[in-house]
Amino acid sequence: MATVTYDHASRVYPGTERPAVDALNLHIEDGEFLVLVGPSGCGKSTSLRMLAGLEDVNSGRILIGDRDVTDVQPKDRDIAMVFQNYALYPHMSVADNMGFALKIAGTPKADIRKRVEEAAKILDLTEYLDRKPKALSGGQRQRVAMGRAIVRQPQVFLMDEPLSNLDAKLRVQTRTQIASLQRRLGVTTVYVTHDQTEALTMGDRIAVLKDGLLQQVGTPREMYDRPANVFVAGFIGSPAMNIGSFQVADGAAQLGQTRIPLERSVVGAIRPEDKGHITIGFRPESLDVVSQAQEGAIPVKVVLVEELGSDAFVYGELVGAGAAAREIHSGAGDAQVIVRVDPRQVPMKGDTIWVAIRPGERHVFSAANGQRIDV
Ligand SMILES: Nc1ncnc2c1ncn2[C@@H]1O[C@H](COP(=O)(O)OP(=O)(O)OP(=O)(O)O)[C@@H](O)[C@H]1O
Ligand SMILES: [Mg+2]
Repeated sequence: MATVTYDHASRVYPGTERPAVDALNLHIEDGEFLVLVGPSGCGKSTSLRMLAGLEDVNSGRILIGDRDVTDVQPKDRDIAMVFQNYALYPHMSVADNMGFALKIAGTPKADIRKRVEEAAKILDLTEYLDRKPKALSGGQRQRVAMGRAIVRQPQVFLMDEPLSNLDAKLRVQTRTQIASLQRRLGVTTVYVTHDQTEALTMGDRIAVLKDGLLQQVGTPREMYDRPANVFVAGFIGSPAMNIGSFQVADGAAQLGQTRIPLERSVVGAIRPEDKGHITIGFRPESLDVVSQAQEGAIPVKVVLVEELGSDAFVYGELVGAGAAAREIHSGAGDAQVIVRVDPRQVPMKGDTIWVAIRPGERHVFSAANGQRIDV
């Protein structure tokens, strides 16, 4: 087992100008499960492939433990990778697939058999060892791919979207299996996904990337409760956070006729480039439905109600907020706010409800650069 360190590691693909991964600094603890997450094209796979040695590092370094592996061959890095498409050999049995890397490495047959059988037991594959991959379900194939990585007993597991070929239900089951297996084996793991739910549920820590740049690293709780900037705020959480930019006057953000009072320290942090505006974010579950009479109550016209059984979400428009209403956006798109409501008391389409942001549950960011303003 080992730590992993990205030290200002950059990758610029030939013929491109902007780095696909830009001076990445990231330290992963021994035994940690770290999830790299971000939208398509943000540089997740490139980061992983740099660690695997499948992609050149143009500047900076990568270390596994204390060893600088920047120029070390992939096969000498003591890592095992699980790919999205599993890449199983169709003509080989499950056992041969799992033991193939060991065979290439010249491991004695009896040792291979022992390790394969152990891994098969952990992965519940014992009865399938003699089958060919085509006679397996998607979930079983996924486990064979995991098994192939496990038998190598590497210092680091690298996984690139290993669940994306599975249907939704199996994905949920398998993600819990992988997370608990990793904890049991205690092998340092870097796991790539574009799915923030997977990131939140699986990772000890999450690293969010955008355009090749690391945005924030933290525990799922930290990422959720204290997003470092507007991008992370909007990316982590489902349904997404409501985020809007509002004019500040007399110590309060102006949301149409409603005022959201701001702490003095927040008002003090507004700089000339913010042009008198502030960006405020509030999650759907941070809104309480209140009476019209309550001070600071924000009117929302119900456009759609989404009932999920355990939860219900109102998708609505801010009433009478003028330009401010158009400024707000959420997971539902522009000019919409999402409110979590009691699933046993849902309003009707066309109704107007009044909501208030629960104290301490709003996030403020600079309107100019999107960075969190700490209060
Ligand atoms: N071989 C290549 N040559 C040139 N550009 C590349 C190459 N591979 C990837 N890129 C570019 O580098 C950027 C990062 O790609 P990468 O595959 O790391 O993204 P990703 O975060 O894994 O995305 P996805 O979620 O779609 O898999 C993208 O803009 C991509 O177009
Ligand atoms: Mg990718």
